[in-house]
Amino acid sequence: MTHSDDDLDTRPLNEWLRGRHALTGSAPDWDLSALPDDPTSLFAAWLRTADAAGVPEPHTVTLATVDAEGLPDARTLILKRIDERGWAFASTRSSRKGAQLAAAPAAALNFWWQPQVRAVRVRGRVQEATAEESAADLAARSAAARADIADGDWVLWRIVPARIEFWQGSRDRRHTRVIYDAVDTGWNRTLIGGPTDRQTP
Ligand SMILES: Cc1cc2nc3c(=O)[nH]c(=O)nc-3n(C[C@H](O)[C@H](O)[C@H](O)COP(=O)(O)O)c2cc1C
Repeated sequence: MTHSDDDLDTRPLNEWLRGRHALTGSAPDWDLSALPDDPTSLFAAWLRTADAAGVPEPHTVTLATVDAEGLPDARTLILKRIDERGWAFASTRSSRKGAQLAAAPAAALNFWWQPQVRAVRVRGRVQEATAEESAADLAARSAAARADIADGDWVLWRIVPARIEFWQGSRDRRHTRVIYDAVDTGWNRTLIGGPTDRQTP
């Protein structure tokens, strides 16, 4: 279907904004009595559920960083991999985010899967992968994607999560949040909202 300017809603912008609805997706069932101890497995399940439901590019994510003055910045990226070392993304050292990560090695990620009314956010310190890992990530890119990258400029970084929040919206506005905080022994899990407010060890 093509759209022309004739299709545009020309109401004043703030009127248009006021008339918008949000959280119009359809939340999947979420068994809160069977939450895993490890947030990575919950994220993997949510990502695969989003993918199976046809959410476009569910591995794209907003990455937030701060500059040396503490001013935040954000942009869209691709999540490269997750393992016990952290959540990996890649870019150039010469980019704004590269400079910001050099000055303040911490970041946050935010996923929003609209059709499922689900969001995941992650925050933590950032570590640079080894030069070999960064080179391997670059080598896996297409020739076109490698073409303009200067030697040694491509970097794989990992967010080591201190906190991961899973949020699922509800039509009755009883939104559910499950928060995993990293502790010495693993993860502390907190459930907020949903059918009843609860706290689990
Ligand atoms: C869907 C999508 C995926 C992207 N993936 C990446 C990526 O993996 N790495 C990257 O450096 N930029 C990626 N970009 C471009 C970034 O959003 C951004 O424009 C660029 O990295 C410069 O950001 P900076 O000026 O904050 O450093 C992507 C953009 C979009 C819309």
